[in-house]
Amino acid sequence: MKNKKIVFSGIQPTSTPHLGNYLGALKNWVAMQDDYDCVYCVADLHAITVRQDPAKLRKQTAETYALLMAMGIDTEKSVLFTQGHNPRHAELAWVLSCYTPFGELSRMTQFKDKSEKHSENINAGLFTYPVLQAADILLYQADLVPVGADQKQHLELSRDAAARFNNAYGETFTLPEPYIPKTSAKIMSLSEPSKKMSKSDGNPNACIGVLDDRDAVIRKFRRAVTDSGAEVVYRENDADKAGINNLILIYSAVTGKTAAETEKEFAGGGYGEFKSATGEVVADMFKPVREEYARITADDAFLVSRMRDGAEKAVRVSEKTLKKVYKKVGFLGL
Ligand code: TYM
Repeated sequence: MKNKKIVFSGIQPTSTPHLGNYLGALKNWVAMQDDYDCVYCVADLHAITVRQDPAKLRKQTAETYALLMAMGIDTEKSVLFTQGHNPRHAELAWVLSCYTPFGELSRMTQFKDKSEKHSENINAGLFTYPVLQAADILLYQADLVPVGADQKQHLELSRDAAARFNNAYGETFTLPEPYIPKTSAKIMSLSEPSKKMSKSDGNPNACIGVLDDRDAVIRKFRRAVTDSGAEVVYRENDADKAGINNLILIYSAVTGKTAAETEKEFAGGGYGEFKSATGEVVADMFKPVREEYARITADDAFLVSRMRDGAEKAVRVSEKTLKKVYKKVGFLGL
């Protein structure tokens, strides 16, 4: 019997996690540990849907794992593991892919965006990626999935996959619900505020990495693109104000203030002062994470032991679901 609700989420190790990842998802990952049984993964299988340098991928997988610990994911309380350490993800993804209509996958906006961006490599994995994501979630019978707004469509597909399977074979999977923050679900690029902040942005000023040093963070905020106005006022859905709106949402999310309180604090202050203040609160927020990260990565053996332990726990939980699925679809057991 389940006592607490189950939470599952993942992040790709394609580069150092950034401010958008943190405010959109990772902050909730940390907070939810008190009230839920949480399972979090570094999604290396997802990462190879676009070409990766193997040595870099290995390094970034370990870095992302260590950073999640540094942010406060407690490996005693929650299961933190690397997706590639649990082969059940790929196994369930195969079964689910045989129950997912082609048409449903063709509607995924992320597939359309990524195939435009990587037109030289539109591979089948890029297309079936949401099925792997559904397998991740459903293996652990997750009730809630903390993510940013860009994952909403993938979450709907996961829920549909679970419902379709349950209808055909009887109760097998819990139907997962997205858990999306109200104001920081889509943090925008600092240099092109009409686009979301993204790891793959070519412009280093667009994105604040969690490990960026204090000066870099403040410099990037000072250079953040805004409009020619001067008043720190939030104007929802005003495309001309996308830059300042984004900064107001970031400042408010970091300090726990409402947008109205932030406007009041900077009334008459101008954009320059506000940009510096935002840079400072973000740099202060990540300072302890950077320090903890340095401590964790100084001890390789410790990190490996945490990963091994996480992988064992993940295998144990997910094995039950996979066995049930294999039996239901008619695979012959031995
Ligand atoms: P990924 O690695 O792109 O992003 C990790 C998390 O960060 C959120 N996010 C953002 N939130 C706000 N503003 C932004 N600019 C921003 N950019 C990213 C994402 O919504 C995500 O929550 N496919 C997933 C990883 C994954 C996963 C899963 C998630 C694999 N398996 C199972 C949930 C459940 C991805 O590529 O996230």
